[in-house]
Amino acid sequence: MPATRPLGKLRLGVNIDHVATVRNARGGDWPDPVRAAKLAEAAGADGITAHLREDRRHIRDADMERLATELGVPLNFEMAATEEMRALALRLRPHACCLVPERREERTTEGGLDVAGDAARLRDYVGALAEAGIRVSLFIGHEARQIEAAAAVGAAVVELHTGAYCDFHAEGRTAERDAELASLRAGSARAHGLGLEVHAGHGLSFETVAPVAAFPEVMELNIGHFLIGEAIFTGLGPAIEGMRQRMDAARIAAFGGAVM
Ligand code: PXP
Repeated sequence: MPATRPLGKLRLGVNIDHVATVRNARGGDWPDPVRAAKLAEAAGADGITAHLREDRRHIRDADMERLATELGVPLNFEMAATEEMRALALRLRPHACCLVPERREERTTEGGLDVAGDAARLRDYVGALAEAGIRVSLFIGHEARQIEAAAAVGAAVVELHTGAYCDFHAEGRTAERDAELASLRAGSARAHGLGLEVHAGHGLSFETVAPVAAFPEVMELNIGHFLIGEAIFTGLGPAIEGMRQRMDAARIAAFGGAVM
């Protein structure tokens, strides 16, 4: 059953990976992604997301160590479902882990994790993290079989991949964009109906955030690239505040005062 009112306040998770991308372009220590995370926190971010990739192309191990101890808001450790990453997560004990595909063969055509195709392994993988008190989120497309598999392997959360919706918007393909949005909305209701907490993210911007923020089941949006890019022009604080305002305005427009 789709929810008809928001299930809770919509949280904004800020992904700081691309501060590290800029830092790594010169190989030194500046700009510091942990400083950006603290600035994001001060500007109203409800959580910080960082993706430690297997190839360490942006976030480094030392960044994760500092994020795990220095933040006042929850850390969402985005990672591939590898043994190396699980061992690190079990040591750092972040609030949450979001499992994402990193290699092409792990992707479904829609770009999320192929949970249905790797269910036995993921059940064990998710279980060990959950036993350690870490909330596990699976980054998936909106297909029913992936959502059902996410519930079956014991994930607490699914993060629905909004990348295709945002790409269609950018390309002016409005009919496909609207169809993708409708599928995401149905996926959100389906996931909630299976007891999963629903998050969403990838590619969201000032232009694309409102319709997704208006899904009543969605509890968290994770946004990075646009905010770090916008920060070049306005500063990180105003970029985050602008996103927060648009998220709240979308909730109010859809549900009256029931932003919560
Ligand atoms: N959620 C997940 C699972 C992601 O992998 C990413 C990208 O790292 C994001 C959200 C944020 O996407 P973007 O940087 O395009 O806002």
